[in-house]
Order: sequence, then C-alpha cells, then structure tokens
Amino acid sequence: MKNESGKETIESLLREGRIFHPPSELVESSNIKAFMDRHGIKTYEELLERAKDIEWFWSEMVKETGIEWYEEPSKIMEWNPPYVKWFVGAKYNIVHNAVDKQVKIRKNKVAYIWEGEPGESMKITFGELYTEVSRLANVLKALGIKKGDRVTIWLPMIPELPIAMLACAKIGAVHSVVFSGFSERALLDRILDSKAKLLITADGFYRNGKIVELKSRADEVLDKAHTIENVIVYNRINEINVNMMPGRDYWWQDIVKGHSRSCDTEILDANDLLFILYTSGTTGKPKGVMHAHGGYAVGTASTLKFIFDIKEDDIWWCSADIGWITGHSYIVYGPLILGATQVMYEGAPLYPQPDRWWSIIEKYGVTVFYTAPTAIRMFMRLGEKWPARHDLSTLRLLGTVGEPINPEAWVWYYKYIGNARCPIMDTWWQTETGMQMISPLPITPLKPGSVTKPFPGIDADVYDPNGSSLNKKDIGGYLVIKKPWPAMLRGLWEAEEKYISTYWSMFDNIYFTGDAARVDKDGYFWVQGRLDDVLKVSGHRIGNSEIESALVSHPTVSEAAVVGKPHEIKGEAIVAFIVLRSGYEPSEELKKTLRKHVEIEIGKIARPDEIYFVTDLPKTRSGKIMRRVCRALLLGMHPGDTSTLANPEAVEAVKKVIS
Ligand code: WTA
Repeated sequence: MKNESGKETIESLLREGRIFHPPSELVESSNIKAFMDRHGIKTYEELLERAKDIEWFWSEMVKETGIEWYEEPSKIMEWNPPYVKWFVGAKYNIVHNAVDKQVKIRKNKVAYIWEGEPGESMKITFGELYTEVSRLANVLKALGIKKGDRVTIWLPMIPELPIAMLACAKIGAVHSVVFSGFSERALLDRILDSKAKLLITADGFYRNGKIVELKSRADEVLDKAHTIENVIVYNRINEINVNMMPGRDYWWQDIVKGHSRSCDTEILDANDLLFILYTSGTTGKPKGVMHAHGGYAVGTASTLKFIFDIKEDDIWWCSADIGWITGHSYIVYGPLILGATQVMYEGAPLYPQPDRWWSIIEKYGVTVFYTAPTAIRMFMRLGEKWPARHDLSTLRLLGTVGEPINPEAWVWYYKYIGNARCPIMDTWWQTETGMQMISPLPITPLKPGSVTKPFPGIDADVYDPNGSSLNKKDIGGYLVIKKPWPAMLRGLWEAEEKYISTYWSMFDNIYFTGDAARVDKDGYFWVQGRLDDVLKVSGHRIGNSEIESALVSHPTVSEAAVVGKPHEIKGEAIVAFIVLRSGYEPSEELKKTLRKHVEIEIGKIARPDEIYFVTDLPKTRSGKIMRRVCRALLLGMHPGDTSTLANPEAVEAVKKVIS
C-alpha cells in the first residue's frame, strides 16, 4: 500500500486512526474500476450512489457475471415483505452457469486443485467436473430422486462434496450439507427436519493425521432416519471396515459405473429452492436457511468478482469448510460461476506442522486468499517464522470473514502474510444473506477492524431501538438491511413464524441481522458482535441454547446456562453453568462426561471450555434463566438490575463458584 514497506513495525502499522490505501496498480487493474469506467463513474461515493438504483445495479451484475437464463426475467425483483423474488419469471438452473456453460468455454481449465491431508494432490478440470456431476446426477435420478426432494450430504473437504451438491442442483433436488465435524446426532436431526430421502457420505477422512469415520457413525443413527431410502458412500480412505446394507447402501465408485457422462440440466424457475443450510439461532434447534437458484447465483458471483477481484488467471483459495455458508458461496457456486481456478484442502491447518497453509499457497501460487480471524490469531500466536519459510509473493489480495477481526490480527495478517502489499477485504455477511454484504472493494481505503462500507446495491444501516438511523453517529445499535438483496434467504424450512419473528419483527419490513454495529463519521461500519444468544467460537456459529439443550439431555443435568467469554484465539470460549439433579455430585469426572456428551449431541466444536456446577441459576419470575446475569458475573461486571429476578440469591451462588 502507498508509501509503506514491509519493514514497518507492527506498532507503527497499528497507529490509531491510520488509513491503508490500496496500491494504485491494484486499483487501476481492478474489476470494479473497469466497471466504473464503463459506466462513467468517477468515485467510490458515486458508485455507491448510482447503485441505489438496485434494479439497474443488479441487472448489470447479471451481465457482469455472465449469468445466462434459459428464459429472461419479466421483472428484476418483487418484494412482498418479508418475502422476495428475484428475476421473476426467469427460467434458470445455477448448474448451467457453474458447470454446463464452463464446459463450452473453459473445458480444460482447472476448476479445483485438491490437496489431501496426507499430501496427495489432484486436479479437476471443468470438463471433468461436468462428467462427474452428470454421472452422479444420473445415479440420483435412477434412485428416484426428483425435483424438490431433499438430499443430505455429509462429506469431508473432497471434490466429491461440490460434485454431490451440483448433481442435486442439476436435477432440481435440494441439498442439505451437514458439516463433517458435526456429530451423528446433529446429522440425524437435520435429516429428519428436512425429510431427506438420500444420504451421501464417505467412509471417512483425514484430520490431524488420524482417520475420522463417517459412514460407521452414520450407521448409528440411520435406523432412526426413517425418511432415508438410500445411502451413497464415497470410498475416500479404503482401509475402514464399512458395513453396507444390501439394497440401501451403495459405494459411489461402483454405482456411477455405467451411467451416462452427460445429463440434461433441469430447467427450473429462478426462484426454486437450491439448498437448505442449517444454522444456529436462539432456540435449541438449528433452523434451515433456504436459498434459491437465481438470486444466489448473481449475489455470490458478483461479490466474488468485485470484492475479491477474481480474474481468469487467479488462483483463489477460501480456507473455509463447505459445510458452512462460506464454502457454499465461495468454494462452490461463486467461483465456479466465474470459472475460477481454486485450491481446496482436506485437512487441518497445522498438520503435519504449522506451515501447511503457507506451503499450499507457495506450491500452487495462490493469488487471492480468504480465511477467518480465528485462524489468523492462531498463526499469530505460533509466530511469523512459519510463513517466513515460504514464498508468498503470488498473493495480491487477502480476506477474512466470520467474526470481528481485532486490529492486531489485521496488521499481523497484512504484514506477515500480505507483505504489506495486499489489501484485506474484511467481509461481513451471514448464512442468511448468502453473499458478502458489507466489505471493502479493492478501491476502498481501509481502517483495520472495520468492514468499511456496504457493497453497492446493499442498503445497510444501524438503528436505535426505535428504528431511527444512527448512521455516521458512531453510536452502537442494531445492524439492519433496508432493501432486499439477490442472495437473501427465502425463509426458514418449515418454520415461517420463526422466520418472521427472528428477522422481521424488530423493525417493520426491515431485515434485522442479530448483530450490533456502529457507523463512524466517515460512514465506515464497525461490527461489534451478536446481540442475540448466538456464539461465535473459532468463527463457527453455535447457539447458546443448542448447547444448553444438549447438556440438559444428560441424565445428571437439571438446568444449564451457556455463555460466551472472550478468548484470545477462538474469539469466544464456551462456559457452562450447570445445576445437577439431586443425587449427583460435582466432580472433574462428570465435567469430562458432560463435555463428551455435548460432543456426541452436537460435535467437538460445541464442547464447553469451562464448566461450573452451581446450586441455582438466576431466573426471571416466569422461569427464564438469565444468561446475561451469569455472563456479567463471569466477566466481573455488574450484573445489572437483579431486582426482577425470582431468586436473587442465585447471584451469590454463581459468584461463589467463579471466585
Ligand atoms: C459474524 C458467516 C464481524 C456476525 C459468513 C454475523 C462478522 C455472523 C463478520 C454470521 C465480519 C461474519 N466481522 N462479524 N467480517 N462476518 N460475522 O452465519 O456476527 O456463520 O451475524 O456466516 O458472523 O455467521 P454465519
């Protein structure tokens, strides 16, 4: 960046109020600059102003991302709050752009460079992707999967995961991907909730040098998953003894044999459902966020093109797992639509040693890299000697997502990974938004820790509790989105009331994000974190109440309150306060048992870091446990007004165990 060399100290980079200007070569050659030039737009401000005409802006984005409809839309957007339709009347299938069209123009270009944790490496071209997607799509049809049917996918980070998603989409089926780090119980809940007919999984995968089994664990719950008719198992490991139930279970590698290498893509309505992705909310049960083909295609591809400036010769690497929205949008759909070459890595970041990621960047010449603050903080702790072993000079742009990034981590990333050359795109968005919403563009002057400004066409604001704008007032409030955007969620699977109460009841016809933020005098957004009871642990979204329900499902637990506590690397640590049923005594052994129990119910990521046994928990008169009070006490803050509590003495009980 301007007038800065890699030799500057962290202290000088961290100077309060310092603004980082993107290098002029980057600005001049950026996709966004080209777009502005084409439309005679001179400045960033003018761009944001012009894009307020959202019908104009998003129809331009359709052209920019090469979206091809089978039939043109009659209308750009139809807004019947709180439901939206985009590209109304268009006939479409996202696979047309992500795969079919690419075969015509980039058949031999590499779509995925995949590296397995043990070190094997493989390339898949767009042509090969087409073949594999088609073969599996034909298998799905043969197994009786039809348009609108749900397919649950529980796969690790192997190319078969995007192939399975695309095969579903190709025939109009709806995929529901379950993160491979979740437990089999979590898998079962999601299968049952979506009434999936088919499960696609693998024998297992590698993580930290060990084998993690999937199929054998799925077997533990499949007898309860009565909607599942068939299971397709990809043989990734080949050394695991896997039971296959005749007539129900098929090896992927066997069942695709003999199926045609091409398959017609189902012509859908642009607003037909593409996928369900479960995410944590404030209740014990995750909710199924729904996204549709057309708008999602335009939203993901345009943000990737203009925020991450993806061009034909870039090597894009998004280090997220496809089991989360970041992977859906920016490893599967967005990059494929743009015809980008990307890196996909199966395993753990520190395996076999802490420079694995940097070796991957060097080996494949990654040019644009997207990761999470929690990873950056972990690498920062391990020291700059690890990235210093590798030539990272191919990088030109960096990004982060998932939680607020502290300026120290931002500056470390900037200096030691980007060599003080690469602007950092700190992107704010959510499973529900489907696409990046508030983020710098490569032309935006950066303030470390700020997600800067809304993407063109996105009308974000911060409201006070009465719905008045706090824009540029630098006062914290509710982060809201005032106009629909193309990749907006289309509702929650079979939970309409929940959809309305979660997002649309705080302010009239205005989307409430659940986050707190402030906008400074320059119009820069600073996201402060969740206002609802949702934790962000290592960037993963987990509901407090989800962990509480897991805990109270254990026979020893009577009541539980789960709260977050700031954690240097993970962002938040999970702390559980537990009241035991009578007859059970607190012990270290029981803590271990309960941690294990949460792992079985949800997955390792949800295990409490600390457990406190208490005799009572603060409650309202209606019996609601006051997490807020527990959290305040834990952090040594004043618990606020406790006069409305039904049991003020519980405050002392909590204080006693944490002191
Ligand atoms: C948080 C992840 C600060 C926020 C794509 C949001 C962020 C939640 C940022 C959504 C960021 C995401 N800065 N906070 N750049 N990005 N968040 O659904 O609280 O897993 O509401 O989607 O992550 O998490 P989700």
